[in-house]
Amino acid sequence: MRFLDVPAAASGRGAGTLVLIHGFPLNTDMWQPQLEMAARGWRVIVPALRGFGPGPEARKDPPAASMDDYAGDIIDLLDSLHVKDAVICGLSMGGYIAFAMHRHAATYFRGLVLADTRSQGDTPEAVANRRGMQQLVRDKGPGAVADALLPKLLCDATRASKPDVVQNLRTQITTSSTEAIVGALDALMTRPDSTPMLPTLHIPVLIVVGDQDGITPLPLSEQMHHDIQGSQLVVISGAGHMSNMEQPAAFNDALGGFLDKRV
Ligand code: MLT
Repeated sequence: MRFLDVPAAASGRGAGTLVLIHGFPLNTDMWQPQLEMAARGWRVIVPALRGFGPGPEARKDPPAASMDDYAGDIIDLLDSLHVKDAVICGLSMGGYIAFAMHRHAATYFRGLVLADTRSQGDTPEAVANRRGMQQLVRDKGPGAVADALLPKLLCDATRASKPDVVQNLRTQITTSSTEAIVGALDALMTRPDSTPMLPTLHIPVLIVVGDQDGITPLPLSEQMHHDIQGSQLVVISGAGHMSNMEQPAAFNDALGGFLDKRV
């Protein structure tokens, strides 16, 4: 599997490994602002999910069909790097993949960060929307997916005042292949409900959500916070679904504080 591997800074305390799992239909670039966790002493590993860029190599990947495909790839990666445990952080689809990893390999979890995500599976209406998006990308390509998703991924203020973030996100989406997007939509619409897992999580858990997240709205995070004993909830103001890109300083404060004090 393709991945970024940023070593912990020599001055850091060699605290452990942090794995950052990207959302749909994005790529490792979305975690650029969080690579600075390496300066706090964490080795940062950012897996590139099957078929997602950056770079043309992504097009050689076989498409995924389930969250288990992505989860298995990341578990194999950790094995190949001899990483025995890590803090696993996933945003949105990355969170769904973290749940799938936990189902198969709970011992790898030193801690869990659930950012702008939900535990539930898709409703019938959501499945119908996924099928519509598969048709859209087959007919019109990833640019049409970017047009459809950008207004939902970012809050109004970000779209009005942070053109670099808008462009970065658009580039990530438009450089994804049609096959990768179709495969991820299959994985999204067939993922199981992870809600029953929540009370069984006995590891440090941080939940982060943008206060204007329209894809996984705040009440979903509040419910996870209620169901996961001892979890911490941080609401990022002035952010939509991409809280880590829209308000990187606030997101990094929350993540860094969790890594420093709670894991
Ligand atoms: C994501 O950001 O990964 C997607 O919005 C997830 C989803 O559509 O459920």
